[in-house]
Amino acid sequence: MKERWKNMPSPTYIVGFLFLLFIVGFCIQYTDLLILFKQLNPKLDENYKELEHCKTLLYGENKKKRALNVLTPWLAPIIWNGTFNITVLDAQHKDTRIGLSVFGVKKYIRFLLPFLESAERYFMVGHNVTYYVFTDKVNDVVKPKIAEGRTLQLHDVTADKRWQDVVMRRMEILTAFAKERMPKEIDYLVCADVDMVFNDHVGVEILGDLVATLHPGFFLSEPEGFTYERRPISAAYIPHGQGDFYYPAAFYGGKVDEIYKLHLACHKGIEEDRKNKIEAIWQEESHINRYLLYNKPTKILSPEYLWDNNLPSGEYIKRRRFLAVHKNHQEVRN
Ligand code: UDP
Ligand code: GAL
Ligand code: MN
Repeated sequence: MKERWKNMPSPTYIVGFLFLLFIVGFCIQYTDLLILFKQLNPKLDENYKELEHCKTLLYGENKKKRALNVLTPWLAPIIWNGTFNITVLDAQHKDTRIGLSVFGVKKYIRFLLPFLESAERYFMVGHNVTYYVFTDKVNDVVKPKIAEGRTLQLHDVTADKRWQDVVMRRMEILTAFAKERMPKEIDYLVCADVDMVFNDHVGVEILGDLVATLHPGFFLSEPEGFTYERRPISAAYIPHGQGDFYYPAAFYGGKVDEIYKLHLACHKGIEEDRKNKIEAIWQEESHINRYLLYNKPTKILSPEYLWDNNLPSGEYIKRRRFLAVHKNHQEVRN
């Protein structure tokens, strides 16, 4: 018996060994083993830095500002300057046919020429483009010089008395066009307000199945501050506590069949509201926001694609690609 004890390690040795085990375990659990590796392998250090860089790109500097990220929580890209290679994308879209729809009804006809001229300069240059211009005065439209491979169509529409009805009727008209005519003529449709000018490159990077833009007035706000329709009786209702982003009706787009579904849903919502004698707070824009909450956009455009030089936070907007033309609301809407 005594002989056996003699062969056992001393208690100091056992305690020392256990302590060493504890230290190793602690290191594995709590310290970044990369630090150790990094000293052994300088290449790993560089990879690590790159990972950090990716993290910054993915989550933005301020993690709270969702709009400054380059991915949405459902992994749709948010298109900021520098996130795409236009040469690669242009090659992919060599044969893509793109429509641009715009309404110039009543006094808004004055915005048409500058809008179209700027589109010739910056919108989908080198691609196959069809302009769908809707107006109540087809004969008064002054056409700009249109480049080869691009066409302009003029379509007659009713001039509603109230401006609210003019803006909402866009949903009804675009439902019909996206169902009947557009599938034969184009692959993607981009829908825009006319009181705007293209001011820098807007190309195929904006194409996707269902694409919406971050509203320039709300991209730094939390959803509670968004001007969604909050009355449950409206078909555009979005409950408090819900919502991802606030999307404007002034610039959005998508594949023709997706855009058809969006317009149909908004048109139906507007009709339902009409029956219930209610009009959503921001007309068709409220219905678009409701639709996009339950049918998430597959691509989102940063406010570079819808900017107004009168707005604050312009430091985030390095390329002002599509700019609001300042107008006297009262004068143009009467
Ligand atoms: N619009 C129009 N005629 C009108 C009112 C509106 O053609 O009398 C069209 C036009 O394309 C305009 C869009 O509807 O850009 C949205 O209206 P507006 O630009 O006045 O809305 P805002 O951007 O000021 O909210
Ligand atoms: C305004 C804009 C409107 C509407 C509104 C939503 O800045 O001019 O068209 O989008 O925001 O709150
Ligand atoms: Mn507008």
